[in-house]
Order: sequence, then C-alpha cells, then structure tokens
Amino acid sequence: MRDALIEAQSLSRIYRHGETQVVALASASFVLERGARIALAGRSGSGKTTLLHLMAALDTPTSGVIAWPALGSPDTLRPAKISLVFQTPSLLEPLTVSENVALPLLMADTADSGACADSVERTVADALATFGLEALAQKMPEELSGGQMQRVAVARASVGRPLIILADEPTGQLDQATGQALLDALIAHLADTSTALVIATHDPAVSERMNTIWHMERGVLTGAGSTDNRT
Ligand SMILES: Nc1ncnc2c1ncn2[C@@H]1O[C@H](COP(=O)(O)OP(=O)(O)O)[C@@H](O)[C@H]1O
Ligand SMILES: [Mg+2]
Repeated sequence: MRDALIEAQSLSRIYRHGETQVVALASASFVLERGARIALAGRSGSGKTTLLHLMAALDTPTSGVIAWPALGSPDTLRPAKISLVFQTPSLLEPLTVSENVALPLLMADTADSGACADSVERTVADALATFGLEALAQKMPEELSGGQMQRVAVARASVGRPLIILADEPTGQLDQATGQALLDALIAHLADTSTALVIATHDPAVSERMNTIWHMERGVLTGAGSTDNRT
C-alpha cells in the first residue's frame, strides 16, 4: 500500500527499568489508511498511549518497523501532517485559548505569516465556533476546567487540517453528553476531508462512533488490518 499514511510491521516497545521490563506493545502490525476512523480501545495500561506516540514519531520502537509512506520524511510529520491530543491537556499556559488554537497555523506559516494573518484569524474563529469555544477565546488555560482544556486541545489538533489526528482519550474528563458533543463536532469538522482519526478510549460509547475498532490488551493489538494478513 504505497499510499498508506502509516504502515507498521511487528512493532514492539519495551520499557526497561533495571531488571524489570514492561512489554507495552508486542509485535503490532497495521496499516492506517487515509480517511480512517479508528477507535483504539483498551483498558488503562493496555498500551494505547505507547502506540499513539509511536504513530506520531514521538517515540521509537524497541523493534519492528514503522513508516509513513504518504507523508515523506519523519522529520516533517508534526504538527502539519500529524497532530496529537495528549491524554493530559497540554495547552501553553501563557497563551489565550485563541492563541493556543492558532499555534499549528502559525508554526506552519512562519515564512510569510504577515500575508496570512487574516486567514489565520478566520480559520481560528471557525474552529472556535465549531467546537463551541467562542466564549472562552480570550481566557487563559488556568481559567478552564479539564473538560474545556480537552476541547481546546481537540480544536488545536484539527485546525490545520492535518492528515492524521491522534487523540488520546479526548473525552476522558467529560460527561457522556459533552463527550458525544465533542465527537460530533470533530467528526463533522472532518466530514469532507481525508484526515485519518485515531481515538484511544476505554469508553464503548466512543468506540462505536468510529468505523473500525482496534483492540489493545496487555500490549497486543487485534483488529487492525496488517500487511501480514493481506493476500
Ligand atoms: N515511560 C514508561 N516507563 C515505564 N513503563 C511505562 C512507561 N510508559 C508506559 N509504561 C507502561 O507500559 C504499559 C502501557 O502503558 P500506556 O501505553 O500508557 O497504556 P494506556 O495508554 O493504554 O493506559 C503500562 O504497563 C505502563 O505502566
Ligand atoms: Mg494512555
């Protein structure tokens, strides 16, 4: 699959501390296609975050191979091509909500930011509206609840229309209705794009909103299309 966004073969990640070792990911093989909507489902400690960080090239595997055939050099993946929503909200404290959401656009556009200031402003305003954040635009992160921070982090991850969004339990701090509303907004935002979305979750109500469910259990990934079992 030359056009795949990510291809992984026998990917493992073992954490070692002295004598002990934890196999956080055990020989996972998968292909992430354009436009995929995947729930990475599994209990706490099953290896979801480990896998997302490998997919984002934030971490390197202990063994196995991962490649981003359609995305070019691994040095250029973030934030323009792959964006992350971290499990712990990670807004920049000195910046307002609006400035946090603008960040990926400004980083992608350092060469001629002056010329595009208007379009950045418009795109950020659209994203704030999409995620119901207009009233919070000028607030600082410390003034937000955990759930509001997650909404801002999701808006920031999707504003630049990356090719892959990896969201690590983005509804983990939200009640059911608010979590579903955030998913509604994200799915609608991506509706006519080929952006692939991978959401790590332990909530079946979130998993069933995606097209495909990959299961993680004690580091073992099942349900993913892999190059191993293609004929
Ligand atoms: N930096 C680390 N050092 C040692 N062990 C880790 C580290 N990160 C994760 N682990 C262990 O790897 C396993 C998978 O963790 P993680 O990927 O965070 O799972 P999940 O996101 O599904 O909760 C767990 O047993 C966890 O304790
Ligand atoms: Mg996790």
